[in-house]
Amino acid sequence: MKNGSVFADINGAPLHAHGGYIIRYGEYWYWYGEDRRENYYVSCYRSVDLKNWEFRNHILTTDSVKRPYRVRTELRLCRDDGHKVNIERPKVLYCEKTNKFVMWAHYENGRDYHDAACCVATCDAPDGDFVYHGHFNPYGYMSRDCTLFRDNDGVAYFISSSRDNADMHVYRLTDDYMNVDGLVNVLWQGEFREAPAVFYRDGRYYMLSSFCTGWRPNQGCYASADKIDGRWSMLSPFGDSTTYHSQPAFVLPVDGEYYYFGDRWGGHPMSHPFDYSKSGYVILKMRFRGDGSPYIEWNNEAFM
Ligand code: GAL
Repeated sequence: MKNGSVFADINGAPLHAHGGYIIRYGEYWYWYGEDRRENYYVSCYRSVDLKNWEFRNHILTTDSVKRPYRVRTELRLCRDDGHKVNIERPKVLYCEKTNKFVMWAHYENGRDYHDAACCVATCDAPDGDFVYHGHFNPYGYMSRDCTLFRDNDGVAYFISSSRDNADMHVYRLTDDYMNVDGLVNVLWQGEFREAPAVFYRDGRYYMLSSFCTGWRPNQGCYASADKIDGRWSMLSPFGDSTTYHSQPAFVLPVDGEYYYFGDRWGGHPMSHPFDYSKSGYVILKMRFRGDGSPYIEWNNEAFM
């Protein structure tokens, strides 16, 4: 797995799970992410060792079954002209209370980025066909780049860029992970942070994020807090001025180690024109200084 490249699955096919997320369930790791080919939206792969990935399913497509949820009315997964909508940065958590796998993602109409909404889908299995429950604007707010985070007590949070990306919102989710039940923090007003990725280590919560420059990479920053809904530190840089040509997707804790997963959108930094299908991955071990501040260093090999 060469950092920056499009990884291959165990059949040698390109692994399309961009802007994604990994969870552990049973003996497998499940990797979810964007797959923009054909009529797909989200694909799922699984692995026992994080290196050999088996394709499992296109878990959300234009043909996914739709089922309304009380507070959501807009269930469209295709535009009136038949064109696909945009489903970005899908994240999935397992909800112990309901035994469901719950996906949250960023929803746009496929024409522009003006809907700025989030959408929800669920499934009884980690890699089955997800049922789509529609999109909405949490409490009416704009919601673009996003992530999910499950705290140690099982409470889950949805974090997303709001107010045309100017502020980062932190929402606590209901016990069934199906809706927001509180806007518990509004962070970094006017800083235009995107691509949030949250993890917990040694009693502190960390959030990585990028600045807002579309598909082009920029200097990643981190911040930390002792409570998700508490006071977060100011933003400090990690990685180099382009975060090694990547934008954060998520951070994966594995046996006391933490791995940064980033997307290298459009492939090689010098490639023109931009080609989404060439988007690769950058996976680097997060390192921590004595004061707990995280950093990453480039390595040609993923996971090093
Ligand atoms: C990025 C964002 C991506 C995608 C892209 C579209 O800033 O992180 O998820 O939305 O913009 O230009």
